[in-house]
Amino acid sequence: MTEKQSQFVKLMERAARRHNSYVVFKDFCAITAISFYNAIFKDPAKEKEYAHIMGKYTKEEADCFPAALAVLAEALEERVHDFLGVVYQELGANNKAAGQFFTPYHLCELMTNVSVVTDNWDKRLINLIEEPACGSGAMLLPICERIRQRPETNNKFLFVATDLDLTCVHMAYIQLTLCGANAVIKHANTLTLEVYSTWPTIAYIGNREELERRMMAQEMMDIFHNPAERKSNDIIVPETLAQKGLLFDLRAGK
Ligand SMILES: C[S@@+](CC[C@H](N)C(=O)[O-])C[C@H]1O[C@@H](n2cnc3c(N)ncnc32)[C@H](O)[C@@H]1O
Repeated sequence: MTEKQSQFVKLMERAARRHNSYVVFKDFCAITAISFYNAIFKDPAKEKEYAHIMGKYTKEEADCFPAALAVLAEALEERVHDFLGVVYQELGANNKAAGQFFTPYHLCELMTNVSVVTDNWDKRLINLIEEPACGSGAMLLPICERIRQRPETNNKFLFVATDLDLTCVHMAYIQLTLCGANAVIKHANTLTLEVYSTWPTIAYIGNREELERRMMAQEMMDIFHNPAERKSNDIIVPETLAQKGLLFDLRAGK
């Protein structure tokens, strides 16, 4: 663990006099994710959940949460890495029975270098990166690191990350939000396709229209560059993000 991660764990322990530190960690992830989400959506059910969690803590204990968020934000500002995934495993909060062993970050970086970040991605208007079992989002963070080196490429990436475990969804949502990524994190079962809730990052909401334009234009270009894939001479109408099930419906909340 880094110095900042140890500092973060100490804050979790300080708030954990009456609860296990991994329960405190899960609560931290839940209230932080809700506060990011409700900065835009003001969902009353999530507001209630927030109040319920905070009700478990004294004022002194609750003060550890903003302090921990400041440590996390500073750490990710200094360097993109899987801060929360390491802490999650260190505190033993991971559900080993559900196979929650996260990929070490240096391996995620290696895999990104040999697969996603090839010469080809720069030529595309948009790259849709899907992670069907995202954990804390470790596989996606090295791409955010690349984007940070070239911020003008941010809207060339749209991340769709899914996990069955709500704490994992919260972790991925928090880290991708703090890294400024265009991302939608789904609390869903990738095998049965059941979706329980959807968490779009603040950057995604801000860039949504441009992402949609890029997505549709790229799809047209793909079709015209690969005429063999055209099945008929019908006029091609690219699917919108909503038709692809990728667009967050602001009204439906899903
Ligand atoms: C081995 S971890 C990998 C996490 C991440 N991809 C990484 O490399 O660090 C597998 C993840 O899959 C999630 N998971 C298990 N079954 C799932 C399902 N049916 N749908 C979505 N996620 C699932 C677990 O909660 C866990 O976070």
